[in-house]
Amino acid sequence: MGDKKVIFSGVQPSGDLTIGNYLGAIRNWVDLQDEYDCYYCIVDLHAITVPQVAKDLRRRTLEVLAQYMAAGLDPEKVTLFVQSHVSAHAELAWVLNCMTYMGELNRMTQFKEKSRKSEANLNAGLFTYPALMASDILLYQANAVPVGDDQKQHLELARDLANRFNNRYSDTFKIPEPLISKVGARIMDLQDPTSKMSKSSENENGYILIKDDPKTIKRKIKRAVTDSIGEVNYSDDQPGIKNMITIYSKFSGESYEEIVNKYKGEGYGKFKGDLAEVIIEGLRPVRERFEELMSNKDYLENVYNEGAKKAERVARKTLSKVYRKTGFIKRKY
Ligand code: TYM
Repeated sequence: MGDKKVIFSGVQPSGDLTIGNYLGAIRNWVDLQDEYDCYYCIVDLHAITVPQVAKDLRRRTLEVLAQYMAAGLDPEKVTLFVQSHVSAHAELAWVLNCMTYMGELNRMTQFKEKSRKSEANLNAGLFTYPALMASDILLYQANAVPVGDDQKQHLELARDLANRFNNRYSDTFKIPEPLISKVGARIMDLQDPTSKMSKSSENENGYILIKDDPKTIKRKIKRAVTDSIGEVNYSDDQPGIKNMITIYSKFSGESYEEIVNKYKGEGYGKFKGDLAEVIIEGLRPVRERFEELMSNKDYLENVYNEGAKKAERVARKTLSKVYRKTGFIKRKY
């Protein structure tokens, strides 16, 4: 146990999970669970950087946990927990905030994008979010962080902050490596294939949810944006089709070439019909298991309680070191 390398990752319960989250992150986590000591968190503290309705946040937090497990994460092997249950996350975030430069945060593309979308609600949490994310990772001394392509910049900041702390005080944090898969690290929006598929997108036809039923999946794929070329090619000139080939390939295991060859001379109709089936079949076991888990709240509760206990022990150890090195005196009783 102790010698295994450590993996940390998380998803925000800020919306229902999409196949972007599934293909770009969660499904990859499953492959790591035998070999590594894995911590997978539901990052509810992150989620409130944009306004949330309390009862929806509660429901989604539990649903994300159920979807982690439905995707194949085994709570006997990995630590599954809710971020707000382990207060060390918020505590380390404060210390790291005091070591993060405004200029670094200003450069974050996710902040720039989100602030453009919601100028009315530009809160300080949205700005300092990457310092909280760095805390998540560094508390567990993670060696690697499996994420989609969009989180790369945040991860670089986490590495910079770890190095900064280590240099200013003494060796304290492991420097985490990003683990980004070559294929499917950025699934695009079905309505606008130039932007990434996002659970917070306004147009629900742009994304497919893990819990979408077959009818909905068929409808969304049918409406997905294509082009006027009319041939199934894996090409930057056809971003809609290219994205759909990527999704097809991730679900079916077939290579791009195999897929392109299969649809030579066919229009988009046949390709889209088959793609919908491939997604439906790929998600079916996940959705069924998800529904089963959601009907067993006691079990889910037990999983996140046990997860928090384990996470807490590890996180406290790192936080104590940080506090000591920072110059905070230890409480005596
Ligand atoms: P979040 O909740 O936006 O997304 C969760 C994971 O899904 C990946 N992802 C995608 N991958 C491919 N294509 C897409 N369209 C797509 N959309 C999302 C994300 O890259 C991510 O891996 N800040 C993080 C959550 C976080 C975190 C952490 C992650 C907080 N603390 C510590 C790792 C380690 C976020 O907002 O992810």
